[in-house]
Amino acid sequence: VKTLVFRVSEENFDSVLERASAIIKRGGTVAFPTETVYGLGADGLNPEAVLKIFEAKKRPPGNPLSLLVHSREDVEIVSRNIPESAFRLMDAFWPGPLTIVLEKNDIVPNITSGRLKSIGVRMPDHKIPLELIKRAGTPLAAPSANLSGKPSPSLATHVMSDLTGRIDAILDGGEAAIGLESTVIDMTIKPPVVLRPGAVSLEELENAIGKVRSGYKNGEAGNEPDLSEKKAGQKYGHYIPDTKVVLVEGEGKSVSEKLVKLLESYRSEGQKVGLLLSEETSKETATFLALQNLDPYECLLLGPREEPEVAARKLFEGLRKLDKKGLDVIVADGSFSRFGLGEALINRLREASSIKIVA
Ligand code: TXA
Ligand code: MG
Repeated sequence: VKTLVFRVSEENFDSVLERASAIIKRGGTVAFPTETVYGLGADGLNPEAVLKIFEAKKRPPGNPLSLLVHSREDVEIVSRNIPESAFRLMDAFWPGPLTIVLEKNDIVPNITSGRLKSIGVRMPDHKIPLELIKRAGTPLAAPSANLSGKPSPSLATHVMSDLTGRIDAILDGGEAAIGLESTVIDMTIKPPVVLRPGAVSLEELENAIGKVRSGYKNGEAGNEPDLSEKKAGQKYGHYIPDTKVVLVEGEGKSVSEKLVKLLESYRSEGQKVGLLLSEETSKETATFLALQNLDPYECLLLGPREEPEVAARKLFEGLRKLDKKGLDVIVADGSFSRFGLGEALINRLREASSIKIVA
C-alpha cells in the first residue's frame, strides 16, 4: 500500500479532510492525531475496513476496538440501554480522554468489538478526528496507531515508522497533547469499573457518578493481578519494550540513592544503560553520572516530579528512543507524583517494566 502523508495546517485543513474522509468512505485506513495519542481509523461499521486495521497493526483478532464518535446521536446508534450515569460522564468529560464501555448495538460488526457484547465509545477533543467522523458520516473504529506491541504514538513520526506501507494515509497534526491513552470505564457493570487509567482520574469519575472500582492490574511488586478481575478486553499484552526496563519506585531522594547503587552494579557488569529520569533525580544523581563519565549512559529527562503531565507527554517518545539504542537495560524513575496524570503514568511505567524495585 502507498501511504500518503499530509501535514495538516489551517490552510489545507479543508482539502486534506476531504481526501481523508473519501478514503474512509471507500473502506480505507487513515491515521490522525487525537488529544491522547494518534489513532488508526476506519469505518467502524464496515467489517472489511475494520479488518484492515487488524492487519495493519498486526493486532490479535478478538482484541476489541473502540469507536470514536462526534455526537450523542452516534452513541445511540452504536449502543443501547445506556445508563443515565453514562450520560452524566459524557456531560462531564466529553469531548475528552474518556472511553465509555456500553452495551453494543447489532449495527456494530463483531469484528469491531472482538465479539464482545459491549463497545467502547469516545468523543475525542481534537478537531481533526471530529471533522473526519462528521464528513465520513460514520463512527470510526480507532485503536492507537502503532504496531501491536509497540508504544502508542504521540507523534506522526511514530506512526510513520510503524505503519508506512501498511495504511492509506497519515495526517500529521503535531504532538498529541496528553501523550497517554484515554481512561477506559466499563459502564455495563455495577459499580462501574475503570479498566485503564488515563487523564480522567478515578476521583473525577466518582465526583460525577459516585462509586467506581479500579479494575486495572497495577503490577506493583508483590501484588499480582487477580485474574478473575481481568476483563475480556484487557487480556491482551500491552507495550513491553525489547530492552529490559527496570522501574525504581519510591519517594524522591530514596529513588536517587537506589538508582546510584543500581548503576554502580550495572557499571561493574559492563552493561549499557539507558535512563528515563525526573529532573530532580537527574540533579541528585548528576555528580555520580559525571564521575562515571556519562559515556555508557543514554539519559532522557521526563520532567519535574510534581508535573506528571509533562512526563506523560514524553514517556512513549522516550521509550521508543531508548529502545532503538541497543542498550542492555533501561532504568526508569518512578518518583513522580501520583496526582492527576501521575496514576496513568505510573501504570504505563509498570506495564513496560519487567523488574520493579521499591526504593
Ligand atoms: O486514547 C485512546 O483511547 C486512543 C485514541 C486513539 O482514541 N485509542 C486507544 O485504543 O488507545 P486501543 O484500542 O489501543 O485501546 C482501547 C482499550 C484496549 O485496552 C481495549 O482492550 C479496551 O480499550 N476495550 C475496547 N473495547 C472494550 C470493551 N468492549 N470492553 C472492554 N475493554 C475494551
Ligand atoms: Mg493500543
